[in-house]
Amino acid sequence: MGRQLLPVQAIDTGSGWVFDLDAAKAAAASGNAKALLLVNPHNPTGRMLRRDELEALGELAELHDLVVISDEIHADLALTGATHVPFASLSEPLAARTVTLYSASKSYNLGGLCCALAHIGPGHVERELAAPPSQLLGHISTLAVAACRAAWSPEGDAWLEDCLARLRANHSLLAGWLAAEGAARVKCYPPEGTYLAWLDFRGAGLGDSPGPWLRREAKVLMNDGPDFGPGGAGFARLNFATTGDILAEVLDRVAVALAKARTER
Ligand SMILES: Cc1ncc(COP(=O)(O)O)c(C=O)c1O
Repeated sequence: MGRQLLPVQAIDTGSGWVFDLDAAKAAAASGNAKALLLVNPHNPTGRMLRRDELEALGELAELHDLVVISDEIHADLALTGATHVPFASLSEPLAARTVTLYSASKSYNLGGLCCALAHIGPGHVERELAAPPSQLLGHISTLAVAACRAAWSPEGDAWLEDCLARLRANHSLLAGWLAAEGAARVKCYPPEGTYLAWLDFRGAGLGDSPGPWLRREAKVLMNDGPDFGPGGAGFARLNFATTGDILAEVLDRVAVALAKARTER
């Protein structure tokens, strides 16, 4: 569509990732910015932005009259006590300029059903989306609707609690591995939400693209950092939404491959 993307990289403070508000301000002021694309909880770092961080972004959106497209698909997956703050909940004027995207596909593992929700604040966006014949945008299957209703029922809440308990256990397993095996060569700020860990392999000497190396040497598939854009070099994204046994094997394979690479150097 000829849109120009102005990426805003997160800042590594040495103790975690923070949103770079100054870079966002510069990007918004640099030209003809129309929309702010926000991913919160953030994929791949797992950051859950605090209310004050979101409010600062809200001010920016108002200053430059931006439509905010807020992808909150991981909202249910808070792992460490941080609270998810929906962007549109900040104020009525901000809700009126925000499109919130949400789905059961992550929390309830229903990605294959291709069903998501958009809560559309701005009237002009709603009208533009309603303008083309609806079949051009595709249709949601009856099965997908039934599955979402089941997911968002009280029984689904219990399922999600169980799922979160498993994710938190895996989060601890990963933290233990990072403190022991990974310590010197693999770093990661514990994700506050999502089931994703943004692993920093820069100390392991694997180059800019650890993904292919991990696949070849450890037989472990992670998403390669550079695929996430600027700032991804030397990183890989681990998905830990699996059983504790499988995660333990994944981490073990990585540790063995890293140790082998060290002795061969
Ligand atoms: C932040 C975020 N938004 C949207 C999507 C797309 O979700 P779906 O697989 O339900 O299309 C993903 C998938 O990884 C995601 O991480």
